[in-house]
Amino acid sequence: MEPFPDLPGFLYRPGALDPAARTDLLAEVQAAISIAPFYRPVTPGGKPFSVRMTNMGRVGWVSDRAGYRYQTTHPETGAPWPPIPATLLMLWDGLTGGSAPPDACLVNLYRDTARMGLHQDRDEADLTAPVVSVSLGDTAVFRIGRADGGPTRSIRLGSGDVCALTGPARLARHGIDRLLAGSSSLIPGGGRINLTLRRAT
Ligand code: SIN
Ligand code: FE2
Repeated sequence: MEPFPDLPGFLYRPGALDPAARTDLLAEVQAAISIAPFYRPVTPGGKPFSVRMTNMGRVGWVSDRAGYRYQTTHPETGAPWPPIPATLLMLWDGLTGGSAPPDACLVNLYRDTARMGLHQDRDEADLTAPVVSVSLGDTAVFRIGRADGGPTRSIRLGSGDVCALTGPARLARHGIDRLLAGSSSLIPGGGRINLTLRRAT
């Protein structure tokens, strides 16, 4: 469904993953995290993110004093990122109608009061390739508005929900206001994991 008539291309699939699929996907992500542990990036201005991050895929999104970019290795371990699980590639295929596959999957861990300020995803080479986002764990208040300004509105993303920024919504401004802490018991230690699939290069 497209929940906002003035935001065509913003796709929302509540409950796209059933509870068994959520558990299976989390296990795959946990295996990846054991290879590529979460770390806390800093903004180009040197401010630590409240979200911890890692990546899967040929390249991963990183931020540090030098700026935002995609790179092939983990900034702390120097190792290549683990591969994107096949289940996520199939999900991308189904949702995007077979758009050329993603090469990057950002893994964000939100705990407690972690949030993500309003931004656009624009570090990718082809800004027409879709962005697909999968939520696991605690419900998040997701905020979104058109790329060309105007009001934003919020929508609650629960565990197993999938959304996508496609077509005219590809450069929509978006962010996470806050979590509804304790709304899910999926993630050990609590919180939310968001998986963002992108075609970066
Ligand atoms: C992001 O835009 O990088 C993450 C959005 C989310 O956590 O749902
Ligand atoms: Fe984003």
